[in-house]
Amino acid sequence: MRTQRLPDDREGLGRAAAILAGGGLVAFPTETVYGLGADATNGKAVAGIYAAKGRPSFNPLIAHVATRDAARREAIFDARAERLADAFWPGPLTLVLPRAPTASVCDLATAGLDSVAIRIPSHPTARALIAAFGRPIAAPSANRSGHVSPTAPDHVLADLDGRIDAVVLGGAADVGVESTILGCLGGPVTLLRPGGVTRAMVEAVIGEAIGEAGDGDGARPLAPGRLASHYATNAHVRLDATGPGPGEAWLGFGRDDRPTGPLSLNLSPTGDLTEAAANLFAHLRALDAMHPPGIAVAPIPADGLGEAIRDRLIRASAPRPPRA
Ligand code: TXA
Ligand code: MG
Repeated sequence: MRTQRLPDDREGLGRAAAILAGGGLVAFPTETVYGLGADATNGKAVAGIYAAKGRPSFNPLIAHVATRDAARREAIFDARAERLADAFWPGPLTLVLPRAPTASVCDLATAGLDSVAIRIPSHPTARALIAAFGRPIAAPSANRSGHVSPTAPDHVLADLDGRIDAVVLGGAADVGVESTILGCLGGPVTLLRPGGVTRAMVEAVIGEAIGEAGDGDGARPLAPGRLASHYATNAHVRLDATGPGPGEAWLGFGRDDRPTGPLSLNLSPTGDLTEAAANLFAHLRALDAMHPPGIAVAPIPADGLGEAIRDRLIRASAPRPPRA
């Protein structure tokens, strides 16, 4: 794949928006770091982000929007979230909020959670690109997994040249660290990741202390990157199964001649890992909703995106503390 270098003018952004609309990957500047963008409503496009970054697991991603109206379509704002958005948007603040019933962001981008991370960036190129595209853009930092975040197009190309469709050449990102992430999910506002907006700035706006980040029971702080209590099934998930046991639901992969029924879905009948990643959370949800005692999963190769798919399946059934 040749990675196009696009200027940050009208024509360049128009081409970038068309690539996004076609399910492609475009790196673009924000005021914090360069993001690796994909159509947040397209599961296959979002799966491409993880493949390009070489991410071993599907962390939920930030949905970037251009307007408050667009943000309200995706997430439910309580009074504190409204105040925080008034104070810091557009800018380097991400809010984790309950997903709205009208949400368009796909399950893979939120890692199957009922919450969504959302922000309006202040960088004019980022805003113009989102506006030209017209839908939310999912974007983690535009670097290979484990590498430092990029603040210039050269950093992006050093990591991702030939792995993504385009980069918008928009100069250096000036904040240089990622956005501050706050959880606004009903209890106290929690600091999920420190960043461009300081704790003191947030507390001045909400008029109370920020709570400790927990996993839902409010007691245990979790390590960064693992802050989201990831989607967990009620049913036990059994990997590398040769077929469903009595009563078990079946999650297939690749060509599968087992009888299909209401308790059977296939992640990708053609054995395509990108398609499997795009379907993963929606299929898990659908099977779990039928309350089987367990979900048996066909063998999934551990290479490429398969590693992340296997990681998520293992986490989905890991023992967890009771939810608050
Ligand atoms: O400055 C930034 O925020 C950059 C630019 C490109 O906007 N983006 C960025 O994205 O840093 P990323 O994917 O590297 O970080 C997203 C973080 C992850 O640590 C993830 O765990 C957290 O946001 N996150 C996303 N959705 C979440 C959710 N529903 N609950 C808790 N944490 C969430
Ligand atoms: Mg990052």
